[in-house]
Amino acid sequence: MNIVILAAGTGKRMRSALPKVLHPLAGRPLLSHVIDTARTLKPTRLVVVVGHGGEAVRAAVAAPDVLFAVQEQQLGTGHAVQQALPLLDPMVSTLVLYGDVPLTRASTLKRLVDSAAEGCYGVLTVTLDDPSGYGRIVRDQTGCVVRIVEQKDATPEQLRIAEINTGIVVTPTAQLGMWLASLKNDNAQGEFYLTDVVERAIEAGFEVVTAQPDEEWETLGVNSKQQLAELERIHQHNVADDLLAAGVTLADPARIDVRGTLECGRDVSIDVNCVFEGRVTLADNVTIGPNCVIRDATLGAGTRVEAFTHIEGAEIGANVGLGPYARLRPGASLQDESHVGNFVEVKNAVIGHGSKAGHLTYIGDADVGARVNIGAGTITCNYDGANKHRTIIEDDVFVGSDTQFVAPVRVGRGVTIAAGTTIWKDVAENVLVLNDKTQTSKTGFVRPTKKKS
Ligand code: UD1
Ligand code: CA
Repeated sequence: MNIVILAAGTGKRMRSALPKVLHPLAGRPLLSHVIDTARTLKPTRLVVVVGHGGEAVRAAVAAPDVLFAVQEQQLGTGHAVQQALPLLDPMVSTLVLYGDVPLTRASTLKRLVDSAAEGCYGVLTVTLDDPSGYGRIVRDQTGCVVRIVEQKDATPEQLRIAEINTGIVVTPTAQLGMWLASLKNDNAQGEFYLTDVVERAIEAGFEVVTAQPDEEWETLGVNSKQQLAELERIHQHNVADDLLAAGVTLADPARIDVRGTLECGRDVSIDVNCVFEGRVTLADNVTIGPNCVIRDATLGAGTRVEAFTHIEGAEIGANVGLGPYARLRPGASLQDESHVGNFVEVKNAVIGHGSKAGHLTYIGDADVGARVNIGAGTITCNYDGANKHRTIIEDDVFVGSDTQFVAPVRVGRGVTIAAGTTIWKDVAENVLVLNDKTQTSKTGFVRPTKKKS
């Protein structure tokens, strides 16, 4: 099967410099959703029709299996499909999809394709309470489709028809070129309508069949930011439903956003207002507190993430405690039983088994061993203004509060670091390390007072 995706529209009503089909739904371009669905049908040719200036669209979805056809001027849906024709295999049928209709399920498309097998012309239709704006499916007394008439060309009687054309069709390809070439644009919009091909197919003796989607929203398109927001909510609702069906506990299915893939083990629990981006994997018994943002991360079994924690590009072991207000940046690797608490930032660093950084700390470019206790206010000074350097803290080190590690530096196992120490030289194992500082008290000190003006 060939698949043609029409994506030449400018999308004026989006009021945006970004081409309409590149506006994101669940964090990815609308068109990417359609391409993903198309790929599940294993097309032999996959052609995207882009408009004049479609370079941004091409760049965004370029892949070895995606071919592009250019429609310089938008002369109608029939004209758009015509631009793809030279790239199609004439021996197999062609499915036409739309780059701005992102939520159609593969199962619905499969049903349409199956019902139109063996040289039929198939149309995906749906019956709406309010069909206004859409092309209407006109049938004869026996119920056979005879034509599709656009809203703007319809008689008052035809306007009462509630069965509409979703636009998604499957057509024989060998005859399609001839049919498209014979289209006229003598209609209300002065366009070459793909919908008029139905009559050509009937004249040529082809049977026209129809199929329906499981859900009405599968055929909704995006023309405005309002519609984009509506489809986003529908999509997120569906994702939440799938998570619930898989046994995940959601405090409120209306308050979770998944922009990518979220894989969950058993007895995972997610509180409100969490955003998951990219690929996120949560193992058994993970709990996520409210208002967390988690992107491209793996969390091991039993790990607890408290409120307002931000995780990106991190690998987190089992039974780890995170947050509230923790920030894990790319390359953070937290081993089992470790703990990273409030206002602690970890970047490109390993926190070993059972190690703890509870409060107000920056650990960047570091290797922290097992059972290390990192006091409040500890900072790895990893950047000398030009290059980044590593801090190595071996097992069982006790880091007193307000310690600075001026990297590159290594602290041996079992070392105790006094509070307020600046470590700028390597430290051997099992010693107490402190800076020479004196504490002086002076009597007779008078605090300055504010001058009266
Ligand atoms: C089309 C159908 C209508 C159907 C409706 C469903 C036709 C003539 N009418 O109407 O029966 O009910 O979709 O939403 O097909 N496009 C191009 N190049 C063009 C024209 C359109 O790429 O020259 C693309 C648009 O970007 C859009 C899609 O095709 O994604 C539909 O075009 P649009 O003009 O919006 O069609 P409708 O008038 O809505
Ligand atoms: Ca139109």
